[in-house]
Amino acid sequence: MPLGKVVERTTKRRISLGELKEYSKGIATVAEDVISNGTVLLPRGTELASLMSSVENLENTLRHWGIFSIPITLSNKLDVNDLEHMLKTAEANLSVIDPQLARETVTQVSNVYERITSGVCKPEDISHLAEQGRNLAKEVAEAPQVMFCLGQVRSWDEYTYVHSLNVALLGGFLASRLFPGQVELMESMSMGGILHDLGKARVPQEILNKPGRLAPEEFEIMKKHAIYGAELAAENSVTDERVLAVVRGHHERFMGGGYPDGLVKDNIPIEARIAAVADVFDALTAQRVYKPPIETRSAISIMLENMDGHFDPQVVRILLTSLGLYPPGTMVELSDGSIGIAVGARGNDLLRPEVLLQIDRTGRKVSGDMRIIDLSMTEGLFVERTLHSTGKFAF
Ligand SMILES: [Fe+2]
Repeated sequence: MPLGKVVERTTKRRISLGELKEYSKGIATVAEDVISNGTVLLPRGTELASLMSSVENLENTLRHWGIFSIPITLSNKLDVNDLEHMLKTAEANLSVIDPQLARETVTQVSNVYERITSGVCKPEDISHLAEQGRNLAKEVAEAPQVMFCLGQVRSWDEYTYVHSLNVALLGGFLASRLFPGQVELMESMSMGGILHDLGKARVPQEILNKPGRLAPEEFEIMKKHAIYGAELAAENSVTDERVLAVVRGHHERFMGGGYPDGLVKDNIPIEARIAAVADVFDALTAQRVYKPPIETRSAISIMLENMDGHFDPQVVRILLTSLGLYPPGTMVELSDGSIGIAVGARGNDLLRPEVLLQIDRTGRKVSGDMRIIDLSMTEGLFVERTLHSTGKFAF
């Protein structure tokens, strides 16, 4: 459903007397006249909340009349403001990464770029930045919500620096999904992600910022950023081979034809293969001055179809399973009538994402503590339908 429409939900169900208390706090009304011996005990349309407050011990009274369950209706309207508010709140609260750490990282990347460009970069500038990558990795371990959170900083202007942060987050996350428990690999991925395009600081501004296509000779210079970056890192006390592999190899292509070394398949270090996926996925789904963001699912299709042979299929597969069939930001109704926002997938079941609960099964808005339900771990609870999917958070 496109943004701008009102989502109306009416659910009918029968609840047991034991559930009366729970539902009376919500928006339930009696769905049909409840009749016993020809007497209407509860007229249709009566609010459960007012019944509970006006009839003393409703449960016992009904039981006395031989009624053990009652039909109820839950109906609420969600308009565009509600949906936007929910997404905004989720965005603000669901931080995989501490916003201050994110901000600090982006500023730090930007400072290091500037120092390299003006020739005053010190070795510790780059090694500190790499360490910042290690801090990011700690925040990301096995958190599918990272997919949702990539969008958080999208609104910031500094594309290159934000992109570096996102490649660090996504690269670290993909590594943790591919090789669970290999903490060092994950850290190296995030460190490499932060540094991956550092070599661009040595590419002339007029090439870097040229609108439109680069001439072949300009592209040759641009391609050098991978080597420049690895050199800069190595010269500035980054010794971890895995980090260097990310920086040098993130433009290699799985079936060959990439740069700078034109490696093929397993000859490309796994770190570089992961970085290639994170790099392109983030670039495709980012909003730029000259292009709108591409939705998650379309980005994956482009990577699989139009960029056939560029990526290691096992890495793309992990990205796909982490997104699930309900991309982060999709508002879904669950089988018990509750509503939430899909935020990513932890398991390998595409149909069972993690959902941040917004409205519980009694129709009450969830406030206070956030509740994330991992549907892959919840038997009997599944996505009933998609209520609303917006490109806004589809990154
Ligand atoms: Fe690059």
